[in-house]
Amino acid sequence: MQKLIIYGPAKLMGEIEVEGAKNAALPILTASILAQNKVIITNIPDIADVRHTIEILKYLGCKVLFENNTVVLDSSSIERFTIPPEYAKLMRSSVLFMGALLSKFRRAELSNHPGGCEIGQRPIDLHISAFRQLGIEVFEHNNRIMCRCDKVKGSEIFLPIPSVGATENIILASIFCDGEVVIKNAAKEPEIADLCHFLNKLGAKIRGAGTHIIKIEGVKRLKSEEVVHKVIPDRIVAGTYLCAVAACGGEVVLKNVFPRHLDSILHILKSSVCKIKELKNEIWIKREERLKGGQRITTHYYPGFPTDLQAPVCSAFAVASGVTIIKETIFENRFKHVPELVKMGADIHVEKDIAMINGVEKLRGCKVFARDLRGGAALFVAGLSAQGVTEVMDADYIDRGYERIEEKYSLLGAKILREKGE
Ligand code: EPZ
Repeated sequence: MQKLIIYGPAKLMGEIEVEGAKNAALPILTASILAQNKVIITNIPDIADVRHTIEILKYLGCKVLFENNTVVLDSSSIERFTIPPEYAKLMRSSVLFMGALLSKFRRAELSNHPGGCEIGQRPIDLHISAFRQLGIEVFEHNNRIMCRCDKVKGSEIFLPIPSVGATENIILASIFCDGEVVIKNAAKEPEIADLCHFLNKLGAKIRGAGTHIIKIEGVKRLKSEEVVHKVIPDRIVAGTYLCAVAACGGEVVLKNVFPRHLDSILHILKSSVCKIKELKNEIWIKREERLKGGQRITTHYYPGFPTDLQAPVCSAFAVASGVTIIKETIFENRFKHVPELVKMGADIHVEKDIAMINGVEKLRGCKVFARDLRGGAALFVAGLSAQGVTEVMDADYIDRGYERIEEKYSLLGAKILREKGE
């Protein structure tokens, strides 16, 4: 495992391009197996989860080229519909191959429950019950999930939780359905709208993406033209930059970002003395005086405050004045970064789903361990504001979702080294 060595405190200054969104790139790459011709997808982040997804696509038989943040994919030679355990375990989004393979072959097998960050139970019961409502037979045996159907039938599916993954899997499985599939209480995340935008370019008929009601009208076949698609910017990577400036101080311009995807965090930081200006695809942020705490932040489904920014925002308010309360409502076990922040001198108490943060003047650098992707990013942000040297161990977690993080933050004036861990 890698480690990142951060020399704090840093003051972040300058401009930075935000990379493409992991949580849009993964479902879009998965959906590419349905294309009737070559697809060219640009603005793909060079991160571990993308490389793992490409490994799966190649295993299934696709021809894939990945260079300069661009994927060129030809799925005409795809021949398999089973995802082996070693791939299924790698990431949560491996489950999305179920929906896509069912549309491609009317059959799909996941040889193990999907992996991914251990931030809660993360069951897939909503995916499976939706598949059954679509007339798909689902067999579960020894952690294997096997699905098959003759035809996906038009249905109305109500999701008790607006699950991102379940919404995406229903959409992927319904492209060629009989009649129309309607998803009610669908997830509204921008990454889902980007997936639907891509699928409609391939020739699918999807309406209502980005709202709670998504309608998929079945088509006989997809278009035969080549398709080019640019993935949306990563709002969580952008939000992490904003939290880093809030924690460290400085003046930064984020480029290639959609401010409208970040309303919740921008609102919180504006109310905490950060000066912020939003332009079409840019955000300017400046923090001089000490960050002001005292807010109550609750994670919600989009457009509420994203659970994926909960950890980085903890690190920002760990050095703010006053007491800040953070309530995590999406995942049951997503405060693993807190004991590591406390090692750095933070004063944070967690009780069930609530973290109470008594802001301290300064954090001090020490050796800390990443336990998951966003928790790792939180320790990285804390290391930037801390006095002295912070070693973030198991930084591979961070590489799953952030492209060359040490190079990007070095462009903003931070001093960071990457080394092999012990
Ligand atoms: C997606 O995960 C994202 N991952 C997560 O980002 C993100 O935290 C999450 O959505 C919420 O925004 C990707 O897009 C690859 P859910 P997903 O299904 O699809 C429960 C990151 O850091 N649930 O919306 O797994 C579930 O346990 C990652 O980039 C069921 O109970 O999330 C959770 O409590 C981490 N049964 C809630 O719903 C199900 O069948 C939301 O999960 C499915 C979900």
